[in-house]
Amino acid sequence: MKTVSLSGRTALITGASSGIGTAAAHALAREGVDLTLAARREEQLDTIAAEVESEHGVETLVVPTDVRDEDAVESMVDKATDQFDGLDILLNNAGLGRGGEVESLSTEDYRLMQETNVDGMFFATRAALPHLKESRGNLLFIGSFAGQYPRPSNPVYAATKWWTRGFAHSVEASVGDDGVAVTVINPTEVRTEFGSASGESFEERFEENEVSEPEEIAEAVVFAAGQRNSTVSELDLYRRDKFAHF
Ligand SMILES: NC(=O)c1ccc[n+]([C@@H]2O[C@H](COP(=O)([O-])OP(=O)(O)OC[C@H]3O[C@@H](n4cnc5c(N)ncnc54)[C@H](OP(=O)(O)O)[C@@H]3O)[C@@H](O)[C@H]2O)c1
Repeated sequence: MKTVSLSGRTALITGASSGIGTAAAHALAREGVDLTLAARREEQLDTIAAEVESEHGVETLVVPTDVRDEDAVESMVDKATDQFDGLDILLNNAGLGRGGEVESLSTEDYRLMQETNVDGMFFATRAALPHLKESRGNLLFIGSFAGQYPRPSNPVYAATKWWTRGFAHSVEASVGDDGVAVTVINPTEVRTEFGSASGESFEERFEENEVSEPEEIAEAVVFAAGQRNSTVSELDLYRRDKFAHF
């Protein structure tokens, strides 16, 4: 399907230091998008910035940010918009899963998921929306299959992703008149650092070609951002055998 050129646009990616965020950085840079890269691990961000600059000749800005910190997120958006004179694309990607069933979930893990997956996406969206309205840009969220179907093994993680979808589509309804496109991308398992806190990341747990690679999710980001007039409201990228193991 024909999409418009993204060359010269500017994007801000949260959670750019690994997995889907890093893959999205490479894919958007390949399309000529200048990038603000945000996450907590500055060294990783610097390496990724150097790679995309040398491979694709785009401009980058690294802004070490904890998305749970409201002031830090405001400052992240200010720095991005000052550097690139506005913002066309926000990829709300930073997120994590911790713990498991409700009865054994610690309050600490509960709060970590809420603060990262819910508060972080709210803070970034609130700060970026005036700029996206200005540019008639794209607001993208990484949701999850866990935000579409019950997840008995981790109800709180699932609930944060149901929140993401509910928030995203309600924002979609409120900013459509302003020309802002809002997209939720729902992956199933992707081979990233996700799950590493429990001892084994998805990268380690799954063999190559067993589940989705982060680059596949990154192509969905490029596709959604490249629509001329439409909103790609929701995109589901599932491992092919997902319903065999459901
Ligand atoms: N992998 C999967 O199977 C899968 C499936 C469905 C949805 N998702 C969603 O995809 C998104 C990306 O995850 P991933 O799979 O790419 O995992 P990942 O490799 O672990 O990446 C997570 C990213 O989020 C960042 N992050 C975590 N807490 C943060 C904080 N407080 N402030 C700023 N950045 C923070 C991490 O950076 P720092 O540690 O440097 O801060 C990292 O860059 C998440 O929203 C996740 O829920 C993943």
